[in-house]
Amino acid sequence: MDVTETTQKTFALTTPLYYVNDVPHIGSAYTTIAADAIARFKRLQGNSVLLITGTDEHGQKIQRTAEAARCEPQVHCDRIVSSFEDLWKQLQIQYDRFSRTTAPRHEGVVKDFFQRVWDNRDIYLNQQQGWYCVSCEEFKEKRELVDEKYCPIHSNKEVEWRDEQNYFFRLSRYQKQLEKLYRDRPDFIRPESRRNEVIAFVGQGLQDFSISRVNLDWGFPVPIDPSQTLYVWFDALLGYVSALLGADEEPTLENAIAKWWPIDLHLIGKDILRFHAVYWPAMLMSANLPLPGRIFGHGFLTKDGKKMGKSLGNTLDPVALVNQFSPDAVRYYFLKEIEFGQDGDYNQTRFINILNADLANDLGNLLNRTVKMAHKYFDGTVPAIAAEAISPDNPLKSIGDSLTDSVAQSYDALAFSQVCEAILTLMRAGNKYVDEKAPWALYKQGDLEAVGEVLYCVLESVRQAAYLLSPIVPNLSQAVYEQLGYAIDFHDRRVGETSAPFDTHGRWGILPPEQPLGKPQPVFQKLEMPASTES
Ligand code: MSP
Repeated sequence: MDVTETTQKTFALTTPLYYVNDVPHIGSAYTTIAADAIARFKRLQGNSVLLITGTDEHGQKIQRTAEAARCEPQVHCDRIVSSFEDLWKQLQIQYDRFSRTTAPRHEGVVKDFFQRVWDNRDIYLNQQQGWYCVSCEEFKEKRELVDEKYCPIHSNKEVEWRDEQNYFFRLSRYQKQLEKLYRDRPDFIRPESRRNEVIAFVGQGLQDFSISRVNLDWGFPVPIDPSQTLYVWFDALLGYVSALLGADEEPTLENAIAKWWPIDLHLIGKDILRFHAVYWPAMLMSANLPLPGRIFGHGFLTKDGKKMGKSLGNTLDPVALVNQFSPDAVRYYFLKEIEFGQDGDYNQTRFINILNADLANDLGNLLNRTVKMAHKYFDGTVPAIAAEAISPDNPLKSIGDSLTDSVAQSYDALAFSQVCEAILTLMRAGNKYVDEKAPWALYKQGDLEAVGEVLYCVLESVRQAAYLLSPIVPNLSQAVYEQLGYAIDFHDRRVGETSAPFDTHGRWGILPPEQPLGKPQPVFQKLEMPASTES
């Protein structure tokens, strides 16, 4: 057995498996960007990481969409899947597995799982009556409905009355165990507000829920009764498990959970919290499987302060946005501007202003003006200064020294905007430091050593900032590193393990003296306000 493999820390995380009723929307891009940033950060720290994304392809919603498009459901799914794969490529998402619930190997895992739950006597036949929202693929309580007939999330979709015999999962049996889980593991559901929401919901008393449907073809037959089809959510959550199968492995539950299970982190939006934080752990308890590490429910995005929707005519197309700006710009805006966990807004003017202020000015300009001076005063090399000799009171060194741990903690807490703010503090201090020290004046006075120290401190600060920001804006970090004379590829998944580990590159004071610098050029091109939308 490979020794490194057994000793290396591992980290597995998931995005939701997205419905393929339509091409990806900005909400799917948002979760996936966040997941990729965490995956990149964990890799920098030397973890072996598995990032799982994918698609949820069964159920009535997909069947109806395919019918409307007059095509076979599988053909429809394949078509939409490729638009997800394309977008992830454009956004530079480094996923390891793409889990599709129509993959033949998924069914083996679902069958094994169903059997375990069945053997545990948690599945029984009963009458299901209620209001169903096909867009959510979920029954709604009468009191939740808007004007007695609309889903609260899909306000233009009427719920449908169902009265049929279905198989039920005995969720009520797990009430106490779930409550104990939330008590014993306070970090199981994050952020705190979502945890409280779940605790309040479970506290009202849990009801069993139906896990099969009649009159629906598009899905797996219920293993013990092929006249019924498995409920799409029962099958979809298991997509996280079948994703773990190796390429040529026999598709059994046992094989699937052999290496990466349990998942460390499920990233989701707040609308699917109950499925992940209540139903899913109960299903896993019933199948006698270990539970995931953490479930993080992020907020919803609006555009110009308004709820987005096709029928409202104000969607934000992620493909158009990346094409208009750049992957770094899109990734940075959503992770910096919105506190992860809270609702947040997209606004083009704010988008442009934030990127220009933070990346083009605070970081980009600082690097540019300093590299130019290094060319002028030090022949295009890093000044020959020993970082250890710089006083710990130096404002940049002292911020840089404390940044490593605080940024790592913020990443671990998924507090991306705190990550960015902390790094910007260093960049702003860098600009102030240059202005105050005025190295051009020191040069005129002939104090080359002082000039060298100023430039070294600034170059090293921008380097550290670029490294710590690389999970969010890998291309910008790449450009900074190149300009500082490094040959390190931030898109190489081994970068933390080999060429630039977090334990060295995450710290302040490693820039090699006398390293030849690249040509000074802007690392982040200022964004222009499109003429038609300028306000
Ligand atoms: N198929 C299920 C997930 C199954 S996981 C086993 C599903 N798919 S979805 O495509 O409808 O939603 C995917 C994600 O997009 C959800 O996490 C949802 O919260 C998120 N968003 C949908 N609209 C959103 C916004 N307007 N803003 C942010 N995220 C949003 O649910």
